[in-house]
Amino acid sequence: MSSVITQQQVLDALSRVIEPELHKDLVSLNMIKELSIQGSAVSFKIELTTPACPLKDVMDKAARAELQKIPGIGKIEIGFTSNVTANARVRGALNIPVKNIIAVASGKGGVGKTTVAVNLALALAKTGASVGLLDNDVYGPNVPLMLGLPYAQVSPDGKNSIPSVQQRDGRILPAEKYGIKVFSIGFIYPPEAPLVWRGPMLHSAIRQFLQDVEWGELDYLIIDMPPGTGDSQLSLAQVAAGVMGIIVTTPQLVSMSDALKGLAAFEQLKVPVVGVIENMGPYMDPRTGQKVALFGEGGGERLAAMKNVPFLGSVPLDQMVRVGGDSGKPILIADPTSETAQRFISIAQQVAARVSVLNYQSSNVIPISIIG
Ligand SMILES: Nc1ncnc2c1ncn2[C@@H]1O[C@H](COP(=O)(O)OP(=O)(O)OP(=O)(O)O)[C@@H](O)[C@H]1O
Ligand SMILES: [Mg+2]
Repeated sequence: MSSVITQQQVLDALSRVIEPELHKDLVSLNMIKELSIQGSAVSFKIELTTPACPLKDVMDKAARAELQKIPGIGKIEIGFTSNVTANARVRGALNIPVKNIIAVASGKGGVGKTTVAVNLALALAKTGASVGLLDNDVYGPNVPLMLGLPYAQVSPDGKNSIPSVQQRDGRILPAEKYGIKVFSIGFIYPPEAPLVWRGPMLHSAIRQFLQDVEWGELDYLIIDMPPGTGDSQLSLAQVAAGVMGIIVTTPQLVSMSDALKGLAAFEQLKVPVVGVIENMGPYMDPRTGQKVALFGEGGGERLAAMKNVPFLGSVPLDQMVRVGGDSGKPILIADPTSETAQRFISIAQQVAARVSVLNYQSSNVIPISIIG
């Protein structure tokens, strides 16, 4: 005898399955898509808020467990799709089809902001998200170097710059490399050009980078910030409502105290903090098998706990990271299966998860379609 399962029974069961990060059930979150019931067989898709979701298996198991309680249920088929949640404030402020903007900053120079921004962008793209990377370090743009992209040049008479980007209909086309879209201030001005950036210039520059560059539809736009907590942060927060921030620190005390300033600046500017990433953390010496903590250990975690923000993970000090940065082939591309590259992937998953939580918490999510 083939039993007939009703849609209501299935939805009742799935409304007892809680999304582990958003702490609401799958049905209220509108995450159940393409539900189809044929006799006793049920199939549907769970629409994740990020393709980088690390908790697919947990949800799959929990959904099956609840569905099995329906008397006479047969085959259960669960698929996954994703639709990254969009921060409505970003669209409201800038009117560009970018869902989330995330600034990577620190209070201190040289802690690896650019390295983290580049590898985080590549890691998010690897999980299937559409990603852009904006190099907003007007004082020393390093993104072209790290991605092997050409800088603008000085004209032969030494008077003008020759940009290394294309334009179309008055819009700047971003470069594309390793599956992400990239724009750097270094594409417009040669690094040796003597430019003095004042507040208002920074303000209009960031607006142009966001609005006049043809980013197209992006799930995440990662912004590499200059060191310090100066005008660039202020301008970004003013121009791009809805921007979120990540703080990079090394494990040592001096970097932590600078990172605290970076966090305080975000707080003051009302920029929600995605979390803290520790860089240049402990690594395993392959010769001795011993852990080496050149810059100390646990600083990132302590900082996050102190400020009550999430700790997103630690990237080890790894020569291959520096080599990757210098050669224009970041470790995520040069050696994607390495332990360090895997750390970046796991950090990217944490970032994506936290961004969707922040979007839900601030109720800034653009409504997603109902069950279909
Ligand atoms: N985990 C790591 N292991 C080894 N080298 C690293 C690591 N992270 C960054 N580096 C190297 O440290 C140097 C500084 O990194 P990076 O340029 O990313 O820092 P930054 O914070 O962006 O600096 P700035 O403040 O000048 O913008 C680079 O040569 C980079 O390759
Ligand atoms: Mg940098």
